[in-house]
Amino acid sequence: MTHLDFSVNVDHVATLRNARGGSFPCPVEAARVAVAAGADGVTLHLREDRRHIRDRDVERVRAEIAAPLNFEMAATGEMVAFAERIRPPYCCLVPEKRAELTTEGGLDVLRAGPFLREAVQRLRAADVRVSIFIEADPAQIEAAARIGAQAIELHTGTYAEGPLANRDAQLARLKAGATAARAAGLLCHAGHGLSYDTVGAIAAMPEVTEVSIGHFLVSQAVFEGLDATVRRFRAIMDAARAA
Ligand code: PXP
Repeated sequence: MTHLDFSVNVDHVATLRNARGGSFPCPVEAARVAVAAGADGVTLHLREDRRHIRDRDVERVRAEIAAPLNFEMAATGEMVAFAERIRPPYCCLVPEKRAELTTEGGLDVLRAGPFLREAVQRLRAADVRVSIFIEADPAQIEAAARIGAQAIELHTGTYAEGPLANRDAQLARLKAGATAARAAGLLCHAGHGLSYDTVGAIAAMPEVTEVSIGHFLVSQAVFEGLDATVRRFRAIMDAARAA
């Protein structure tokens, strides 16, 4: 069984910091704790409005944290230029709307204009491994492969945050997406809305090579501590993977 990489998203440590306009709690310090507790990587989403992560946070994580940075970004000229300067090992292209609370759905690769392909090419030319956040739809997955992405990240929000009664059907849809991704020669990542209750079924899919978890993890850390929360996620994923 391939190793399942666990990338910890610390965006909401920055949300808390920004609530008071100071420097505490520090997302870079959170990244350090998460990696020491067993995270394989760190995810940061630099949004156009800088509502949580700021440019300096990305620069510092890149410079100070040895584990790979997965840089989440919209496919805009500003963000591609930023990534070309920072050169994160991994990038995940996401749709971004100003008014949304969080990323609401996958990128529509089929209907995207030529800039998406150009963004993928520019990032790859800067030695960045490019992933695209999409729905588990085989047509979208094949389109991601056609424009040169090396990975896709399956949107798990509908499964993880939807009604309990729909979970099996949503898991079957994600499994089909994961299979389609591997058949298209892509790495398959997964994320959005995952919690202790929902991560196991995703970790049990051998096609999935990386999960990215943020909001629940940072929230749970308020009660359990960040170190313990990362360790508990790791244990749940390892047990599900081995079963
Ligand atoms: N993957 C992507 C592409 C995301 O946009 C997010 C949210 O920033 C996540 C994973 C993590 O989702 P959550 O914060 O709900 O765990």
